[in-house]
Amino acid sequence: MMSQKRRIVIFDTTLRDGEQSPGASMNLFEKMEVAQALRDLGVNVLEAGFPIASVGDFEAVREIAMNIRGLTICGLARCNDADIDRAWEALKHAESPRIHVFLATSAIHREFKLKMTREEIIQRAVAGVRRAASYCDDIEFSPEDAARTEHDFLCQVVEAAIDAGATTVNIPDTVGYAIPSHMGQTIAMLRNRVPNIDKAVISVHCHNDLGLAVANSLAAVENGAGQVECTINGIGERAGNCSLEELVMAIRTRSDLYDCETGIVTQRLVPTSRLVSSITGLQVQRHKAIVGRNAFAHEAGIHQDGWLKERTTYEIMHPEDVGFTKTDLVLGKHSGRAALADRAKALGYRLTGEQLQTVFEEFKKLADKKKEIYDGDIAALIEKQLHAMPDGNRQWALVSFEVTSGTGRTPHAKLTLRRGDEEFTREVCDGDGPVDAAFLATEAITGIKLRCRDYQVRSATLGHDALGEVTLEVDHAGETIRGHGISTDTVEATIMAILNTVNRIAARNPQ
Ligand code: KIV
Ligand code: ZN
Repeated sequence: MMSQKRRIVIFDTTLRDGEQSPGASMNLFEKMEVAQALRDLGVNVLEAGFPIASVGDFEAVREIAMNIRGLTICGLARCNDADIDRAWEALKHAESPRIHVFLATSAIHREFKLKMTREEIIQRAVAGVRRAASYCDDIEFSPEDAARTEHDFLCQVVEAAIDAGATTVNIPDTVGYAIPSHMGQTIAMLRNRVPNIDKAVISVHCHNDLGLAVANSLAAVENGAGQVECTINGIGERAGNCSLEELVMAIRTRSDLYDCETGIVTQRLVPTSRLVSSITGLQVQRHKAIVGRNAFAHEAGIHQDGWLKERTTYEIMHPEDVGFTKTDLVLGKHSGRAALADRAKALGYRLTGEQLQTVFEEFKKLADKKKEIYDGDIAALIEKQLHAMPDGNRQWALVSFEVTSGTGRTPHAKLTLRRGDEEFTREVCDGDGPVDAAFLATEAITGIKLRCRDYQVRSATLGHDALGEVTLEVDHAGETIRGHGISTDTVEATIMAILNTVNRIAARNPQ
């Protein structure tokens, strides 16, 4: 007889907790791209944001709720009427809405943050869940800092929340304090001691401060948790959250041990990871499990020898299973649109006809400069397209530039930018290098002051003629803004990245 495996609900919080990573904030257009990718990946619940937190968050949750179908869309709220009402306002058009209410329960949070007694916490949690349940049937309740909450009290709060209408109870390890045995025992304890626990799905939400978020989530699953909250590439507050790709592949690879499965389309893990990394500017370390560039690279001679004789000697998963393409097929100037579309699809990108046309035009320009075009170049061209602001917002465009520097010479930058029909030119002879000069010239034209926090250049592929990708992080009026630029000329890529940040700032403050 075929055994029926438990289906674990994958709750993705890349757009909420993930976005809380410093510098990872995304605009609406980018959030929609990520939301579509998460839907294609097969996540069951998508936490789209915290609607009361800002107008941007509210709009993102509302747009995602209105446009992304086939999965549950969730919005976060504290246990108060204003938060919950705002969350519902954003979620109400979703095909399957979920309100996620949370309230801290640990002694430290009760005493120092909330200044509330245990009784007051229970009353507030019950009132919050009831109000949320007056709007929809799917309610998640999280006792924040559950992993440091006294067991007796945690049982009381969870029981009261379920009685009030919570259909999922999420157990967060908010500060990443748990270890696997502790997390496993907490879930087992709740299943044993909370009388109405069968009326709700138990979920876990683990942070990675001790590097244990995936291990703790797996221990919870082993002890009966039915939902895991995670993020792509493990991004999130501080050291991040449980990494979706690691959790999913652990369950799949060790199906001999787990009585459960997920509905994730694992071949989409690498493309989704690339998309999130490119949009957030948070690069994935080379040796990152599952999606890192080296995750399947065999370097040692003995390993290579064994692998060539029989893959399974040193390979527990196939790279194709997580979405690495088998070949780095080379395209060139004679390749047509169909070949490009084919490669884009194999790399996991879904492009509209219009997007394909723009990427194809860029591809042709690149093919004139560079003989061989690799997958990395194509991915960079597509991601450039994804970074482009929707037309109405793209205020400043590069017309031409000249930047010079040399030993013993003051750097010089001459920049011409266009806004609408007008062109503006400035020349500066200043700065401590070409990048500084490019910043100064941009500031002189746009009047937008930028303080660079991080500047990274990397090549999209092998070879010294490769496309250069520049990722920038700047401070402007107390906020961190990211920009992205690519070109075979790294100075041009730098200017494009500066303009990308300037346009993001300008889009927030339209004139
Ligand atoms: O870490 C945490 O406790 C959270 C809650 C809002 C679930 O993110
Ligand atoms: Zn969290």
